[in-house]
Amino acid sequence: MEKILVLDFGGQYDQLIARRVREQNVYAQVRYYDRICLSEIRKEGYRGIIFTGGPRSVYEPGAPGYDPAILELGIPILGICYGHQLLAYLSGGKISSAGQAGEYGKTVLKASGSLLLQDLPAESICWMSHRDTVAELPAGFQIIASTDQCTCAAMADDQRKLYGVQFHPEVTHTEYGRQILHRFLYDICGCQGDWDVEDLAGRLVERYHRELAGKKVLLALSGGVDSSVCALLLHRAIGQALVCVFVDHGLLRKGEADEVERIFRQQFGVNLIRVNAKERFFEKLAGVTEPERKRRIIGEEFIRVFEEEAKQLGHIHVLAQGTIYPDVIESGKGASAVIKSHHNVGGLPEVISFEEIAEPLRDLFKDEVRAVGAVLGLPKELLYRQPFPGPGLSVRIIGEITSEKVSLLQEADAIFREELKDLPADQKPDQYFAVLTDTRSVGVMGDARTYGYTAALRAVSTDDFMTAQWTRIPYDILERASSRITNEVAGITRVVYDISSKPPATVEWE
Ligand code: XMP
Repeated sequence: MEKILVLDFGGQYDQLIARRVREQNVYAQVRYYDRICLSEIRKEGYRGIIFTGGPRSVYEPGAPGYDPAILELGIPILGICYGHQLLAYLSGGKISSAGQAGEYGKTVLKASGSLLLQDLPAESICWMSHRDTVAELPAGFQIIASTDQCTCAAMADDQRKLYGVQFHPEVTHTEYGRQILHRFLYDICGCQGDWDVEDLAGRLVERYHRELAGKKVLLALSGGVDSSVCALLLHRAIGQALVCVFVDHGLLRKGEADEVERIFRQQFGVNLIRVNAKERFFEKLAGVTEPERKRRIIGEEFIRVFEEEAKQLGHIHVLAQGTIYPDVIESGKGASAVIKSHHNVGGLPEVISFEEIAEPLRDLFKDEVRAVGAVLGLPKELLYRQPFPGPGLSVRIIGEITSEKVSLLQEADAIFREELKDLPADQKPDQYFAVLTDTRSVGVMGDARTYGYTAALRAVSTDDFMTAQWTRIPYDILERASSRITNEVAGITRVVYDISSKPPATVEWE
Protein backbone atom coordinates (compact mmCIF):
# COMPACT_ATOMS: atom_id res chain seq x y z
CA MET A 1 0.00 0.00 0.00
CA GLU A 2 1.19 3.50 -0.79
CA LYS A 3 1.95 5.63 2.21
CA ILE A 4 2.88 9.17 3.08
CA LEU A 5 4.91 10.13 6.13
CA VAL A 6 3.63 13.08 8.12
CA LEU A 7 6.75 14.10 9.99
CA ASP A 8 5.52 15.92 13.08
CA PHE A 9 7.56 18.86 14.33
CA GLY A 10 5.25 19.58 17.26
CA GLY A 11 2.46 21.48 15.48
CA GLN A 12 -1.25 21.44 16.18
CA TYR A 13 -2.27 19.93 12.89
CA ASP A 14 -0.36 16.67 12.50
CA GLN A 15 -3.47 14.54 12.78
CA LEU A 16 -5.50 16.89 10.63
CA ILE A 17 -2.90 16.68 7.85
CA ALA A 18 -2.95 12.88 8.00
CA ARG A 19 -6.74 12.87 7.84
CA ARG A 20 -6.73 15.23 4.85
CA VAL A 21 -4.32 12.92 3.05
CA ARG A 22 -6.40 9.87 3.84
CA GLU A 23 -9.52 11.67 2.63
CA GLN A 24 -7.80 11.67 -0.76
CA ASN A 25 -7.41 7.90 -0.59
CA VAL A 26 -3.75 7.83 0.34
CA TYR A 27 -2.66 6.26 3.62
CA ALA A 28 -0.76 8.67 5.89
CA GLN A 29 1.21 7.85 9.01
CA VAL A 30 2.19 10.41 11.65
CA ARG A 31 5.61 10.02 13.27
CA TYR A 32 7.22 12.45 15.67
CA TYR A 33 10.45 13.76 14.17
CA ASP A 34 12.82 12.38 16.80
CA ARG A 35 11.26 8.92 16.81
CA ILE A 36 11.98 7.96 13.23
CA CYS A 37 15.45 7.85 11.76
CA LEU A 38 16.55 8.23 8.19
CA SER A 39 17.19 4.53 7.62
CA GLU A 40 13.68 3.69 8.80
CA ILE A 41 12.20 6.26 6.45
CA ARG A 42 14.18 4.72 3.61
CA LYS A 43 13.07 1.22 4.57
CA GLU A 44 9.38 2.08 4.89
CA GLY A 45 9.23 3.14 1.24
CA TYR A 46 7.17 6.30 1.73
CA ARG A 47 5.89 7.92 -1.47
CA GLY A 48 6.17 11.38 0.01
CA ILE A 49 6.92 13.26 3.21
CA ILE A 50 5.04 16.17 4.73
CA PHE A 51 6.83 18.29 7.31
CA THR A 52 4.23 19.68 9.73
CA GLY A 53 4.13 23.08 11.36
CA GLY A 54 5.45 23.67 14.85
CA PRO A 55 5.55 26.44 17.44
CA ARG A 56 9.32 27.04 17.45
CA SER A 57 11.80 29.09 15.45
CA VAL A 58 14.41 27.09 13.50
CA TYR A 59 17.39 28.91 15.08
CA GLU A 60 16.19 28.42 18.67
CA PRO A 61 18.40 26.05 20.63
CA GLY A 62 16.68 22.68 20.82
CA ALA A 63 14.21 23.51 18.03
CA PRO A 64 13.02 20.42 16.13
CA GLY A 65 15.20 19.67 13.12
CA TYR A 66 16.23 16.78 10.91
CA ASP A 67 19.25 15.34 9.16
CA PRO A 68 19.58 17.29 5.87
CA ALA A 69 20.24 13.97 4.15
CA ILE A 70 16.46 13.53 4.17
CA LEU A 71 16.45 15.88 1.17
CA GLU A 72 18.63 13.46 -0.78
CA LEU A 73 16.40 10.38 -0.42
CA GLY A 74 14.65 11.18 -3.68
CA ILE A 75 11.30 11.26 -1.83
CA PRO A 76 9.17 14.34 -2.56
CA ILE A 77 8.76 16.66 0.44
CA LEU A 78 6.09 19.23 1.24
CA GLY A 79 6.91 21.52 4.16
CA ILE A 80 4.04 23.35 5.86
CA CYS A 81 4.55 26.50 7.98
CA TYR A 82 7.44 25.61 10.33
CA GLY A 83 8.06 22.67 7.98
CA HIS A 84 8.44 25.16 5.11
CA GLN A 85 10.98 27.18 7.09
CA LEU A 86 12.81 24.04 8.14
CA LEU A 87 12.97 22.87 4.53
CA ALA A 88 14.47 26.25 3.54
CA TYR A 89 16.91 26.11 6.45
CA LEU A 90 18.04 22.54 5.71
CA SER A 91 18.53 23.51 2.07
CA GLY A 92 20.79 26.45 2.95
CA GLY A 93 18.26 29.31 2.99
CA LYS A 94 17.81 31.93 5.71
CA ILE A 95 14.87 32.53 8.03
CA SER A 96 13.97 35.79 9.68
CA SER A 97 11.56 36.77 12.38
CA ALA A 98 8.98 38.92 10.61
CA GLY A 99 8.75 41.13 13.69
CA GLN A 100 5.92 41.41 16.18
CA ALA A 101 3.10 41.43 13.68
CA GLY A 102 3.40 38.17 11.75
CA GLU A 103 0.43 37.01 9.73
CA TYR A 104 -2.57 35.30 11.27
CA GLY A 105 -5.84 34.17 9.72
CA LYS A 106 -7.28 34.59 6.26
CA THR A 107 -4.77 36.13 3.85
CA VAL A 108 -4.76 36.82 0.11
CA LEU A 109 -2.30 34.55 -1.65
CA LYS A 110 -0.84 35.48 -5.02
CA ALA A 111 0.27 32.32 -6.79
CA SER A 112 2.62 32.32 -9.73
CA GLY A 113 3.26 28.87 -11.07
CA SER A 114 4.71 25.42 -10.36
CA LEU A 115 2.89 22.13 -10.60
CA LEU A 116 2.01 22.32 -6.91
CA LEU A 117 -0.11 25.47 -7.30
CA GLN A 118 -1.38 24.79 -10.81
CA ASP A 119 -5.05 24.81 -9.80
CA LEU A 120 -4.90 28.20 -8.08
CA PRO A 121 -6.16 31.44 -9.62
CA ALA A 122 -3.86 34.48 -9.47
CA GLU A 123 -5.39 35.36 -6.11
CA SER A 124 -7.04 33.13 -3.53
CA ILE A 125 -7.53 32.94 0.22
CA CYS A 126 -5.14 30.99 2.39
CA TRP A 127 -4.84 30.52 6.16
CA MET A 128 -1.68 31.89 7.76
CA SER A 129 -0.35 31.55 11.27
CA HIS A 130 3.31 32.53 11.55
CA ARG A 131 5.86 35.05 12.69
CA ASP A 132 9.05 33.81 11.02
CA THR A 133 9.44 33.83 7.24
CA VAL A 134 11.89 32.51 4.64
CA ALA A 135 14.06 35.58 4.03
CA GLU A 136 16.66 34.09 1.71
CA LEU A 137 15.67 31.43 -0.76
CA PRO A 138 17.89 28.33 -0.84
CA ALA A 139 19.71 27.49 -4.08
CA GLY A 140 17.60 25.60 -6.59
CA PHE A 141 14.28 26.94 -5.27
CA GLN A 142 11.99 29.55 -6.76
CA ILE A 143 9.22 31.55 -5.13
CA ILE A 144 5.84 30.35 -6.34
CA ALA A 145 3.50 32.44 -4.19
CA SER A 146 3.53 35.49 -1.98
CA THR A 147 1.25 37.66 0.17
CA ASP A 148 1.43 41.35 1.09
CA GLN A 149 3.46 40.55 4.20
CA CYS A 150 5.35 37.50 3.08
CA THR A 151 7.43 37.38 -0.07
CA CYS A 152 8.06 33.66 0.10
CA ALA A 153 4.63 32.28 0.90
CA ALA A 154 5.48 29.19 -1.14
CA MET A 155 8.62 27.85 -2.81
CA ALA A 156 9.49 24.99 -5.12
CA ASP A 157 12.44 23.03 -6.37
CA ASP A 158 10.55 21.17 -9.09
CA GLN A 159 13.58 19.19 -10.10
CA ARG A 160 14.16 17.65 -6.67
CA LYS A 161 10.43 17.69 -5.88
CA LEU A 162 10.88 19.76 -2.74
CA TYR A 163 8.07 22.18 -1.86
CA GLY A 164 7.29 24.53 0.97
CA VAL A 165 4.17 26.52 1.82
CA GLN A 166 4.05 29.07 4.61
CA PHE A 167 0.26 28.75 4.85
CA HIS A 168 -1.82 25.76 5.97
CA PRO A 169 -3.37 23.80 3.08
CA GLU A 170 -4.90 21.37 5.58
CA VAL A 171 -7.33 23.86 7.13
CA THR A 172 -10.64 24.45 5.39
CA HIS A 173 -10.15 28.23 5.30
CA THR A 174 -7.46 27.74 2.65
CA GLU A 175 -9.65 27.79 -0.46
CA TYR A 176 -7.46 25.56 -2.61
CA GLY A 177 -5.89 23.49 0.15
CA ARG A 178 -7.46 20.26 -1.04
CA GLN A 179 -6.23 20.79 -4.59
CA ILE A 180 -2.71 21.57 -3.40
CA LEU A 181 -2.55 18.35 -1.39
CA HIS A 182 -4.04 16.45 -4.31
CA ARG A 183 -1.34 17.76 -6.70
CA PHE A 184 1.34 16.85 -4.20
CA LEU A 185 0.04 13.34 -3.60
CA TYR A 186 -0.96 12.37 -7.11
CA ASP A 187 1.17 14.42 -9.54
CA ILE A 188 4.30 14.95 -7.48
CA CYS A 189 4.50 11.77 -5.35
CA GLY A 190 2.84 9.67 -8.06
CA CYS A 191 0.27 8.07 -5.76
CA GLN A 192 -2.61 6.12 -7.30
CA GLY A 193 -4.94 6.33 -4.30
CA ASP A 194 -5.23 2.81 -2.97
CA TRP A 195 -6.50 3.61 0.55
CA ASP A 196 -10.20 2.91 0.56
CA VAL A 197 -12.13 2.85 3.81
CA GLU A 198 -15.06 1.15 2.10
CA ASP A 199 -12.84 -1.82 1.21
CA LEU A 200 -11.07 -1.68 4.51
CA ALA A 201 -13.81 -3.37 6.52
CA GLY A 202 -13.68 -6.40 4.22
CA ARG A 203 -9.88 -6.50 4.28
CA LEU A 204 -9.78 -6.32 8.08
CA VAL A 205 -12.38 -9.06 8.45
CA GLU A 206 -10.35 -11.25 6.08
CA ARG A 207 -7.08 -10.52 7.85
CA TYR A 208 -8.38 -11.30 11.33
CA HIS A 209 -10.22 -14.37 10.06
CA ARG A 210 -6.80 -15.65 9.00
CA GLU A 211 -4.74 -14.44 11.93
CA LEU A 212 -7.12 -15.41 14.71
CA ALA A 213 -8.22 -18.78 13.33
CA GLY A 214 -8.57 -21.35 16.13
CA LYS A 215 -8.01 -18.78 18.89
CA LYS A 216 -10.30 -17.65 21.68
CA VAL A 217 -10.56 -13.87 21.77
CA LEU A 218 -11.86 -11.71 24.61
CA LEU A 219 -13.06 -8.12 24.28
CA ALA A 220 -14.38 -5.66 26.84
CA LEU A 221 -17.40 -4.10 25.17
CA SER A 222 -18.56 -0.76 26.54
CA GLY A 223 -21.10 0.15 23.88
CA GLY A 224 -18.98 3.12 22.80
CA VAL A 225 -18.10 3.55 19.12
CA ASP A 226 -14.62 2.02 19.19
CA SER A 227 -15.31 -1.13 21.15
CA SER A 228 -18.60 -1.64 19.26
CA VAL A 229 -16.95 -1.48 15.84
CA CYS A 230 -14.14 -3.69 17.10
CA ALA A 231 -16.64 -6.24 18.40
CA LEU A 232 -18.61 -6.41 15.19
CA LEU A 233 -15.52 -6.62 13.03
CA LEU A 234 -14.06 -9.50 15.03
CA HIS A 235 -17.43 -11.19 15.21
CA ARG A 236 -17.54 -11.17 11.40
CA ALA A 237 -13.99 -12.53 11.35
CA ILE A 238 -14.21 -15.34 13.89
CA GLY A 239 -17.84 -15.63 14.96
CA GLN A 240 -18.42 -17.31 18.31
CA ALA A 241 -14.71 -17.54 19.12
CA LEU A 242 -15.02 -13.89 20.09
CA VAL A 243 -16.39 -13.45 23.60
CA CYS A 244 -17.50 -9.94 24.51
CA VAL A 245 -17.88 -9.04 28.15
CA PHE A 246 -20.12 -6.08 28.84
CA VAL A 247 -19.96 -4.90 32.44
CA ASP A 248 -23.09 -3.01 33.43
CA HIS A 249 -22.03 -0.89 36.39
CA GLY A 250 -25.50 0.57 36.78
CA LEU A 251 -24.28 4.03 35.85
CA LEU A 252 -25.26 4.06 32.20
CA ARG A 253 -27.95 6.24 30.68
CA LYS A 254 -31.58 5.16 30.79
CA GLY A 255 -32.17 2.00 28.77
CA GLU A 256 -28.63 1.91 27.43
CA ALA A 257 -27.45 -1.39 28.84
CA ASP A 258 -30.51 -3.19 27.42
CA GLU A 259 -29.95 -1.50 24.08
CA VAL A 260 -26.34 -2.68 23.87
CA GLU A 261 -27.41 -6.19 24.76
CA ARG A 262 -30.25 -6.13 22.22
CA ILE A 263 -28.09 -4.88 19.36
CA PHE A 264 -25.15 -7.19 19.90
CA ARG A 265 -26.79 -10.36 21.08
CA GLN A 266 -30.10 -10.33 19.26
CA GLN A 267 -29.42 -8.30 16.15
CA PHE A 268 -25.91 -9.52 15.40
CA GLY A 269 -25.71 -12.79 17.33
CA VAL A 270 -22.52 -11.79 19.10
CA ASN A 271 -21.34 -14.08 21.90
CA LEU A 272 -21.98 -11.53 24.64
CA ILE A 273 -21.79 -11.88 28.39
CA ARG A 274 -23.59 -9.11 30.23
CA VAL A 275 -22.52 -8.78 33.82
CA ASN A 276 -25.03 -7.00 36.00
CA ALA A 277 -22.68 -5.62 38.60
CA LYS A 278 -24.66 -2.61 39.82
CA GLU A 279 -24.84 -3.77 43.43
CA ARG A 280 -21.09 -4.29 43.67
CA PHE A 281 -20.31 -0.89 42.25
CA PHE A 282 -22.86 0.92 44.41
CA GLU A 283 -21.57 -0.78 47.52
CA LYS A 284 -18.04 0.37 46.79
CA LEU A 285 -19.24 3.89 46.02
CA ALA A 286 -21.33 4.31 49.17
CA GLY A 287 -20.40 7.48 51.00
CA VAL A 288 -17.81 8.56 48.39
CA THR A 289 -18.09 12.16 47.22
CA GLU A 290 -14.68 13.00 45.84
CA PRO A 291 -14.70 12.82 41.98
CA GLU A 292 -11.29 11.25 41.44
CA ARG A 293 -12.00 8.61 44.08
CA LYS A 294 -15.23 7.76 42.30
CA ARG A 295 -13.27 7.33 39.04
CA ARG A 296 -10.63 5.20 40.73
CA ILE A 297 -13.14 2.95 42.47
CA ILE A 298 -15.09 2.37 39.26
CA GLY A 299 -11.93 1.69 37.27
CA GLU A 300 -10.63 -0.80 39.82
CA GLU A 301 -13.94 -2.55 40.32
CA PHE A 302 -14.39 -2.83 36.57
CA ILE A 303 -11.08 -4.64 36.28
CA ARG A 304 -11.99 -6.96 39.13
CA VAL A 305 -15.35 -7.88 37.61
CA PHE A 306 -13.79 -8.40 34.21
CA GLU A 307 -11.03 -10.52 35.65
CA GLU A 308 -13.53 -12.80 37.40
CA GLU A 309 -15.48 -13.27 34.18
CA ALA A 310 -12.34 -13.96 32.18
CA LYS A 311 -11.24 -16.63 34.67
CA GLN A 312 -14.44 -18.56 34.07
CA LEU A 313 -13.81 -18.60 30.35
CA GLY A 314 -10.72 -20.78 30.57
CA HIS A 315 -7.67 -20.06 28.48
CA ILE A 316 -7.80 -16.84 26.46
CA HIS A 317 -5.42 -16.62 23.51
CA VAL A 318 -6.04 -13.03 22.52
CA LEU A 319 -7.18 -9.89 24.29
CA ALA A 320 -8.79 -7.53 21.76
CA GLN A 321 -8.98 -3.80 22.31
CA GLY A 322 -10.72 -0.97 20.46
CA THR A 323 -7.62 1.22 20.47
CA ILE A 324 -7.72 3.78 17.65
CA TYR A 325 -5.00 5.84 15.94
CA PRO A 326 -5.22 9.00 18.06
CA ASP A 327 -4.68 6.78 21.14
CA VAL A 328 -1.37 5.49 19.88
CA ILE A 329 -0.08 8.26 17.69
CA GLU A 330 3.45 9.31 18.50
CA SER A 331 3.65 12.90 19.42
CA GLY A 332 5.91 15.25 21.27
CA LYS A 333 2.84 16.85 22.77
CA GLY A 334 2.01 13.91 24.97
CA ALA A 335 3.47 10.59 25.99
CA SER A 336 2.76 7.90 23.45
CA ALA A 337 0.09 5.63 24.80
CA VAL A 338 0.41 1.99 23.95
CA ILE A 339 -2.84 1.10 25.57
CA LYS A 340 -5.93 3.21 25.62
CA SER A 341 -6.05 5.10 28.88
CA HIS A 342 -9.83 4.77 29.07
CA HIS A 343 -10.47 3.43 32.56
CA ASN A 344 -12.26 0.30 31.52
CA VAL A 345 -9.59 -1.18 29.31
CA GLY A 346 -6.45 0.48 30.63
CA GLY A 347 -5.58 -2.04 33.32
CA LEU A 348 -6.76 -5.21 31.67
CA PRO A 349 -3.54 -6.52 30.15
CA GLU A 350 -2.00 -6.69 33.63
CA VAL A 351 -4.67 -8.91 35.14
CA ILE A 352 -5.78 -11.16 32.30
CA SER A 353 -3.44 -13.84 31.11
CA PHE A 354 -3.32 -14.06 27.34
CA GLU A 355 -0.78 -14.58 24.56
CA GLU A 356 -1.34 -11.62 22.29
CA ILE A 357 -3.23 -8.37 21.87
CA ALA A 358 -5.33 -7.63 18.78
CA GLU A 359 -6.11 -4.01 17.99
CA PRO A 360 -7.78 -4.03 14.59
CA LEU A 361 -8.58 -0.30 14.63
CA ARG A 362 -5.20 1.01 15.73
CA ASP A 363 -4.44 2.61 12.36
CA LEU A 364 -7.75 4.37 12.02
CA PHE A 365 -9.06 7.82 12.83
CA LYS A 366 -12.48 8.12 14.45
CA ASP A 367 -14.25 8.99 11.19
CA GLU A 368 -12.64 5.96 9.55
CA VAL A 369 -13.73 3.76 12.46
CA ARG A 370 -17.27 5.03 11.89
CA ALA A 371 -17.01 4.32 8.17
CA VAL A 372 -15.89 0.74 8.88
CA GLY A 373 -18.76 0.40 11.39
CA ALA A 374 -21.23 1.67 8.79
CA VAL A 375 -20.00 -0.87 6.22
CA LEU A 376 -20.48 -3.61 8.82
CA GLY A 377 -24.03 -2.41 9.41
CA LEU A 378 -23.71 -1.00 12.92
CA PRO A 379 -26.81 1.12 13.69
CA LYS A 380 -26.46 4.89 13.41
CA GLU A 381 -27.40 5.48 17.04
CA LEU A 382 -24.29 3.57 18.07
CA LEU A 383 -22.00 4.97 15.39
CA TYR A 384 -22.82 8.59 16.15
CA ARG A 385 -23.15 8.24 19.87
CA GLN A 386 -21.99 11.15 21.96
CA PRO A 387 -18.89 10.58 24.02
CA PHE A 388 -19.85 9.13 27.39
CA PRO A 389 -17.40 8.97 30.27
CA GLY A 390 -16.25 5.54 31.41
CA PRO A 391 -17.29 6.27 35.04
CA GLY A 392 -20.72 7.06 33.61
CA LEU A 393 -23.31 8.96 35.59
CA SER A 394 -21.14 8.87 38.69
CA VAL A 395 -19.38 12.02 37.48
CA ARG A 396 -22.72 13.66 36.74
CA ILE A 397 -24.08 13.18 40.24
CA ILE A 398 -22.50 15.65 42.59
CA GLY A 399 -21.86 14.13 45.99
CA GLU A 400 -22.70 10.63 47.05
CA ILE A 401 -24.08 8.11 44.55
CA THR A 402 -27.27 6.34 45.52
CA SER A 403 -29.61 4.19 43.53
CA GLU A 404 -32.35 6.79 43.94
CA LYS A 405 -30.17 9.62 42.63
CA VAL A 406 -29.10 7.56 39.63
CA SER A 407 -32.76 6.94 38.75
CA LEU A 408 -33.61 10.64 39.06
CA LEU A 409 -30.74 11.56 36.81
CA GLN A 410 -31.50 8.86 34.25
CA GLU A 411 -35.07 10.16 33.93
CA ALA A 412 -34.10 13.84 33.70
CA ASP A 413 -31.34 13.07 31.20
CA ALA A 414 -33.64 11.00 29.01
CA ILE A 415 -36.16 13.85 28.87
CA PHE A 416 -33.51 16.41 27.94
CA ARG A 417 -32.12 14.16 25.22
CA GLU A 418 -35.58 13.49 23.89
CA GLU A 419 -36.34 17.20 23.64
CA LEU A 420 -33.15 17.81 21.66
CA LYS A 421 -33.60 14.81 19.39
CA ASP A 422 -35.24 16.65 16.52
CA LEU A 423 -32.95 19.68 16.37
CA PRO A 424 -31.41 19.98 12.89
CA ALA A 425 -27.88 18.56 12.75
CA ASP A 426 -26.22 21.97 12.35
CA GLN A 427 -27.86 23.23 15.55
CA LYS A 428 -27.30 20.10 17.57
CA PRO A 429 -24.76 20.30 20.37
CA ASP A 430 -21.88 17.80 20.21
CA GLN A 431 -22.58 16.58 23.72
CA TYR A 432 -25.58 17.16 25.94
CA PHE A 433 -26.77 15.67 29.17
CA ALA A 434 -28.27 16.36 32.58
CA VAL A 435 -26.40 16.64 35.87
CA LEU A 436 -27.86 16.05 39.32
CA THR A 437 -26.49 18.68 41.67
CA ASP A 438 -26.50 18.14 45.42
CA THR A 439 -28.33 21.38 45.97
CA ARG A 440 -31.85 20.96 47.26
CA SER A 441 -34.33 23.78 47.22
CA VAL A 442 -37.91 24.55 48.01
CA GLY A 443 -40.65 24.38 45.42
CA VAL A 444 -44.41 24.43 45.30
CA MET A 445 -46.78 21.95 43.72
CA GLY A 446 -50.50 22.49 44.04
CA ASP A 447 -50.88 23.84 47.55
CA ALA A 448 -47.99 21.92 48.99
CA ARG A 449 -44.42 22.98 49.40
CA THR A 450 -41.82 20.56 48.06
CA TYR A 451 -38.16 20.13 48.74
CA GLY A 452 -36.18 18.52 45.96
CA TYR A 453 -32.99 18.39 43.91
CA THR A 454 -31.80 20.88 41.34
CA ALA A 455 -30.92 19.37 37.96
CA ALA A 456 -28.54 21.17 35.63
CA LEU A 457 -28.67 20.82 31.86
CA ARG A 458 -25.42 20.92 29.94
CA ALA A 459 -24.92 21.20 26.18
CA VAL A 460 -21.66 22.02 24.41
CA SER A 461 -20.44 22.57 20.88
CA THR A 462 -16.86 21.57 20.18
CA ASP A 463 -14.49 20.15 17.59
CA ASP A 464 -12.19 18.22 19.87
CA PHE A 465 -13.50 18.45 23.44
CA MET A 466 -10.28 20.24 24.45
CA THR A 467 -12.22 23.48 24.29
CA ALA A 468 -15.98 23.81 24.15
CA GLN A 469 -18.65 26.51 23.90
CA TRP A 470 -21.95 26.25 25.73
CA THR A 471 -24.62 25.83 23.08
CA ARG A 472 -27.33 28.44 22.49
CA ILE A 473 -30.25 26.04 22.71
CA PRO A 474 -33.58 27.63 21.73
CA TYR A 475 -35.48 28.83 24.83
CA ASP A 476 -38.62 26.91 23.96
CA ILE A 477 -36.68 23.64 24.07
CA LEU A 478 -35.17 24.55 27.41
CA GLU A 479 -38.62 25.49 28.66
CA ARG A 480 -40.15 22.18 27.57
CA ALA A 481 -37.28 20.19 29.07
CA SER A 482 -37.54 22.06 32.36
CA SER A 483 -41.27 21.76 32.58
CA ARG A 484 -41.26 18.05 31.76
CA ILE A 485 -38.44 17.27 34.20
CA THR A 486 -40.05 19.07 37.13
CA ASN A 487 -43.45 17.53 36.34
CA GLU A 488 -42.41 14.01 35.45
CA VAL A 489 -39.48 13.38 37.77
CA ALA A 490 -40.67 13.45 41.36
CA GLY A 491 -37.73 14.58 43.45
CA ILE A 492 -36.42 17.29 41.09
CA THR A 493 -37.96 20.70 41.71
CA ARG A 494 -35.67 23.05 39.87
CA VAL A 495 -33.77 23.05 36.55
CA VAL A 496 -30.88 25.33 35.61
CA TYR A 497 -28.93 25.64 32.35
CA ASP A 498 -25.14 25.65 32.47
CA ILE A 499 -23.73 28.59 30.49
CA SER A 500 -20.04 27.97 31.15
CA SER A 501 -17.56 27.26 28.38
CA LYS A 502 -14.38 25.20 28.54
CA PRO A 503 -11.98 26.57 29.65
CA PRO A 504 -12.32 27.54 32.43
CA ALA A 505 -15.13 25.03 33.14
CA THR A 506 -14.90 21.41 31.99
CA VAL A 507 -17.59 19.61 30.01
CA GLU A 508 -18.43 17.23 32.84
CA TRP A 509 -19.18 18.66 36.25
CA GLU A 510 -16.79 16.34 38.05
P1 XMP B 1 -14.03 17.30 30.43
O1 XMP B 1 -15.03 17.15 31.52
O2 XMP B 1 -12.65 16.90 30.84
O3 XMP B 1 -14.48 16.25 29.32
O4 XMP B 1 -14.08 18.65 29.79
C1 XMP B 1 -13.96 16.19 28.02
C2 XMP B 1 -14.55 14.95 27.35
O5 XMP B 1 -14.09 13.76 28.01
C3 XMP B 1 -15.18 13.04 28.56
N1 XMP B 1 -14.76 12.56 29.89
C4 XMP B 1 -14.38 11.29 30.17
N2 XMP B 1 -14.30 10.19 29.40
N3 XMP B 1 -13.57 8.91 31.26
C5 XMP B 1 -13.91 9.01 29.95
O6 XMP B 1 -13.86 7.99 29.27
C6 XMP B 1 -13.63 9.98 32.11
O7 XMP B 1 -13.33 9.87 33.30
C7 XMP B 1 -14.05 11.22 31.54
N4 XMP B 1 -14.23 12.47 32.04
C8 XMP B 1 -14.65 13.26 31.02
C9 XMP B 1 -16.32 14.02 28.63
O8 XMP B 1 -17.58 13.38 28.58
C10 XMP B 1 -16.07 14.91 27.45
O9 XMP B 1 -16.59 14.36 26.27
